[in-house]
Amino acid sequence: MKILAIETSCDDTCVAVIEAKKGKSPRFNILSNIISSQIEIHKQYGGVYPSMAKREHQRNLVPVLKKAIKATNKEKKATTNEETKKNKTIEKILEREEVLLKELKIFLKKYQKTDIDAIAVTNGPGLDPCLWVGVNLAKALSYFWDIPIVPVNHIEAHILVNWLLLEKNIKKFPAICLVVSGGHTQLILMEEIGKYKILGETRDDAAGECFDKTAKILGLDYPGGPIISAMAIKSREKQRKIGIKLPRPMLNQKNYDFSFSGLKTAVLYSFKSTSKSTRTSKKYIIEMCSEIQQAIIDVLVAKTIRASKEYNAKTIILGGGVASNKELRKQLGKAIKQQLPKTNYLKPTIKLCSDNAVMVGVAGYFRFLKGKTKIWKRIEAKPNLRIK
Ligand code: KG4
Ligand code: ZN
Repeated sequence: MKILAIETSCDDTCVAVIEAKKGKSPRFNILSNIISSQIEIHKQYGGVYPSMAKREHQRNLVPVLKKAIKATNKEKKATTNEETKKNKTIEKILEREEVLLKELKIFLKKYQKTDIDAIAVTNGPGLDPCLWVGVNLAKALSYFWDIPIVPVNHIEAHILVNWLLLEKNIKKFPAICLVVSGGHTQLILMEEIGKYKILGETRDDAAGECFDKTAKILGLDYPGGPIISAMAIKSREKQRKIGIKLPRPMLNQKNYDFSFSGLKTAVLYSFKSTSKSTRTSKKYIIEMCSEIQQAIIDVLVAKTIRASKEYNAKTIILGGGVASNKELRKQLGKAIKQQLPKTNYLKPTIKLCSDNAVMVGVAGYFRFLKGKTKIWKRIEAKPNLRIK
């Protein structure tokens, strides 16, 4: 079956079309994967402003949708105008998304439904105004094209994207999932697809948020994660160090929660108590970036390994934007090899770690198999949706 997937939970406008082939372990084909990033806009403010992100999603969604459908080579030009009687309902669904409504009407006049069987859309967790734009587009398309819709949990999508590359016969469950993104840091026990228990999560800032906020303190661009990791690579083992030491928050506590705001405060104190000439030097920035990255990795790896031992995990699964951090991927892999050599390790390709709609399509397919489709009228955005 073919799934059209939509993701707008934060600052990336994403639409994808995937094909899923049924089987004991389903195979997926990515037919298109379009992402329109808003980084250039949010960069000026050092973070994401929900109302601004909503406006951009409204502007970008139809062009992104058009690209995603065109890339499958299945787009069909509309021949008649008979569908226009459906416009009244479309207007009602998109009454709070005027810009999107205007563009969508033009799109629906030009293009017919293709061979898509279902729509998957992220309905939470995420930024409320942003989620609604994607959800309302999905509802409008579901109604207009008369195809079912499946709501998808963003966190589950970050986990299930790993099923794209899955080897057939590995023992997967129970699995321990570490989902690390700009909005979330969660350790999740996965008993099967669709059955989860959050073992622990951040009590304040998420790991990605910590990368972003500490980068801002250091005067680096948004998003901070990729920049801090690029800087950290330049750190040379042999070079004489300034000696920056940051805390590893909650590392030794016997729970699976995290806290990264103290780390951010420690960076701020170090920065403020260091002379201007030193703190603006390349040497200081590089060493600080390396220490920030290592402090975050130390806590994430230690807690993931401890949870995996306690729950006898057959697989450790990594996901979320921070999972594209090469050092985290490497160091978690090394710890698994040394301490849990029989445990499988799944991580998405770097391109599919940060937000995309392919992951929503994959999660949507599994939800579809479980009969979790909903009537478009019943779907709503849930900014605080929890995985369970
Ligand atoms: O999953 P994602 O794309 O969006 C959310 O759901 O939040 O994650 C975005 C986060 C940002 O905080 C960004 O700084 C972080 O992922 N990130 C990284 C790297 N690439 C992106 N963090 C550390 N190292 C990276 N290479
Ligand atoms: Zn995400």
